[in-house]
Amino acid sequence: MPVFWGKFTVFYFCVISCCSLNFVRLEDDLNIPAIAKYFNTKGRYEEVNPYLRDDILAVNTSILQLPSAQCREIHLTAIIRHGTRYPTTKSIKEMQEFYNIVRHNASGEQSWLQEIQTQWTMWYTEDMDGRLVQKGVNDLKHLAVRLSKLFPSLISEKNLRGGLIKFITSSKHRCVNSTLSFKAGLTELWTITDQEFEHAVNDALMRFFDQCTRFVEEVDNNPSAMTELDKFREGAEMKRVEEKIADRLGVEYSLITDDMAEAAFYLCAYEFAIKAMNSPWCQLFDEDDAKIMEYEADLREFWKRGYGHDVNSKSSCILFHDAFSRLDKAASENKLGQPVTEAVTVQIGHADTLLPLLTLLGFFNDSDALTSTNYATQTQRSFRTSHMMPYAANLVFVLYDCGGGDLRLQPLLNEKPVTFPGLDDQQHSMPLYQDVRNHYRHLLSGCDFEIECRLLKHPAV
Ligand SMILES: *[C@@H]1O[C@H](CO)[C@@H](O)[C@H](O)[C@H]1NC(C)=O
Ligand SMILES: *[C@@H]1O[C@H](CO)[C@@H](O)[C@H](O)[C@H]1NC(C)=O
Ligand SMILES: *[C@@H]1O[C@H](CO)[C@@H](O)[C@H](O)[C@H]1NC(C)=O
Ligand SMILES: *[C@@H]1O[C@H](CO)[C@@H](O)[C@H](O)[C@H]1NC(C)=O
Repeated sequence: MPVFWGKFTVFYFCVISCCSLNFVRLEDDLNIPAIAKYFNTKGRYEEVNPYLRDDILAVNTSILQLPSAQCREIHLTAIIRHGTRYPTTKSIKEMQEFYNIVRHNASGEQSWLQEIQTQWTMWYTEDMDGRLVQKGVNDLKHLAVRLSKLFPSLISEKNLRGGLIKFITSSKHRCVNSTLSFKAGLTELWTITDQEFEHAVNDALMRFFDQCTRFVEEVDNNPSAMTELDKFREGAEMKRVEEKIADRLGVEYSLITDDMAEAAFYLCAYEFAIKAMNSPWCQLFDEDDAKIMEYEADLREFWKRGYGHDVNSKSSCILFHDAFSRLDKAASENKLGQPVTEAVTVQIGHADTLLPLLTLLGFFNDSDALTSTNYATQTQRSFRTSHMMPYAANLVFVLYDCGGGDLRLQPLLNEKPVTFPGLDDQQHSMPLYQDVRNHYRHLLSGCDFEIECRLLKHPAV
């Protein structure tokens, strides 16, 4: 007995067991694929913060637990991933290849399969190559408005007009467009039409991974750095997913390779992220399959951007020092009773920018590495890019002056307060800035990009 209620369908099930009656209510938004929470870096921000599905501009200011009423925010740095984008050329080629298999070789009778074969058209073209889509423009506009509601004294019209909000971006078109979108979010909010705001392109900061020679040689261009990923892709869990896809399509097992399984997963993920559609492609996976696909992508990020290799996080030393030097500058200006000259810094980059930095800071550090053989024991892992790194993912540092020289630093990830790992026994939820500096003193006094990224003569094996 489905009850239609807007776009929601509410099912009531009466489950009668031998001597008790259980009333179970399942609420599903039929527009959202059941597997949407496993899309890794191809996931929507709304799946990470579901309250935004009802109101995309919703903020809850009481999440910020200020230790005293005296606390004033004096500086904010936001490091933000670009918004929703088209697939890259490489993914589009694979999606095209998989679509051809489904169109020409699939023999099943299911209605969703008929729908793909007779109604769906391959609308992705190679020239789309990772560009920002309209949903991505909105991601950043809305984020800008929410952050200004959460931190009204810093992200304010006065500070924007006064040049106290600085914008820095990666040179990639999707990042530049995301920066323009963030700015448009603010100028439209305050209907500013008489002034324009600059941004600086800085790849040394926002695409440090390309410029870190040791990372490029030892990880990015080194196939043996990804051994665990390769083994998982050839292993039993992935094979089972591939066979289930082949069975659902009624094609030979040999046609569904690991690349084709990935292309199928992308088709479901992109149709949802870009068009908000629960497309027939999503029928190719059940939740168990999706969790395996999610693990496969997490393995890649773990070994390429995360804890897998030390140089991954060390390549972000330059961004780490950049953030702390701004905080230090704001702290010392504030101490001298001067106004903070750079009230807000908005930096727009990539998942590849944020993941190494989060790793350097020690976030999502599980006790065991992700490997090809521990899928089953890693189901509770914290390193889960579906939660950490949707489109428009963001890490925000807010520096507060709580009176009497008491400076505190609040980190937020995707608009939720988090605690610095290893510093969570602090008295207040918001640690003293001095304690944060002390906690990361080994990085503040070291973590030299030039040294960490120098190619070792005798690489450790
Ligand atoms: C806002 O956040 C507070 C603290 O986390 C929570 O107790 C409250 O329920 C939230 N309010 C809404 C409307 O979500
Ligand atoms: C798949 O379909 C194509 C085009 O009809 C055909 O050439 C190919 O032999 C088929 N492959 C298999 C394994 O059935
Ligand atoms: C991105 O920026 C380019 C150049 O300014 C523009 O042509 C394009 O339409 C923009 N795309 C979106 C989605 O805003
Ligand atoms: C991650 O955890 C391991 C121990 O499980 C520890 O040795 C390492 O220092 C941690 N890394 C960071 C960056 O905190």
